[in-house]
Amino acid sequence: MIPKVIIHNSISIDGSLSSFEPNMELHYRIAGMFKPDIHLIGSNTITAGIKLYGTGIPPEAPSDFQKPKRGKTLPAWVVVDSKGKLEGLLHACRRFEQVRDVIVLVSRTTPKRYLCYLDERQYEYHSVGKNSVDLRKALELLAKKYQVKTIVTDTGRILGNLLLDQGLVDEISLLVHPIIVGKKSYGMWSDINKNPEITLMKCERLQGQYVWLVYSVKKKEKRPLH
Ligand SMILES: NC(=O)c1ccc[n+]([C@@H]2O[C@H](COP(=O)([O-])OP(=O)(O)OC[C@H]3O[C@@H](n4cnc5c(N)ncnc54)[C@H](OP(=O)(O)O)[C@@H]3O)[C@@H](O)[C@H]2O)c1
Repeated sequence: MIPKVIIHNSISIDGSLSSFEPNMELHYRIAGMFKPDIHLIGSNTITAGIKLYGTGIPPEAPSDFQKPKRGKTLPAWVVVDSKGKLEGLLHACRRFEQVRDVIVLVSRTTPKRYLCYLDERQYEYHSVGKNSVDLRKALELLAKKYQVKTIVTDTGRILGNLLLDQGLVDEISLLVHPIIVGKKSYGMWSDINKNPEITLMKCERLQGQYVWLVYSVKKKEKRPLH
């Protein structure tokens, strides 16, 4: 079984994911309405978020080496990081009070040093895939191990487009901001190879100037192998 996957992004009217200031309060309020068991996030999104919103990486404290004790109903952050890009940075994510804990998806070629870093800090991690993370297997694992039913992925273009191209997405939620980014636009769909059938399910005006759109994505039936 694969959990329900909702891509949720804030975009400009010309479809850019970056080079503008998203309304984070509204973005996360909408994300919460899906009642996700986890947020699935790419490693670039974490490093970009730390640069944009952080005030530098704080030094690690003894509490960063332990699992946080927080409500079991809070969503966990599951981060795809097979190259170990987030070594030395993960405590900045783990400290968010709204996150149950951070779980990391790695692969068979992930540097050993990164796995030691994760072990020493009691992060749960799972190796799925050879070079990169096998996304379908990762979703199956999350459903089985953590009984995950709903995933919101508020990530960038790379991971979002891979999930959509692999037929793993059920819904797309877009918070359209009243802004044109123009030449610096980081187009949300520029890496898509397949054109899935989508249907508009929701179109709501919010706070006067924002539009919230939700589309369902038609999933192709997997044909049995002969
Ligand atoms: N406006 C919004 O709502 C919003 C939300 C989030 C992010 N953003 C913006 O998006 C940008 C960052 O996103 P991004 O597009 O650079 O990257 P991203 O979506 O964070 O995706 C990178 C992730 O894709 C994984 N990946 C790459 N190739 C793969 C493969 N073949 N199989 C499986 N996984 C693979 C990488 O895994 P490995 O690390 O294992 O290689 C990495 O975790 C930033 O500018 C950020 O501000 C905007």
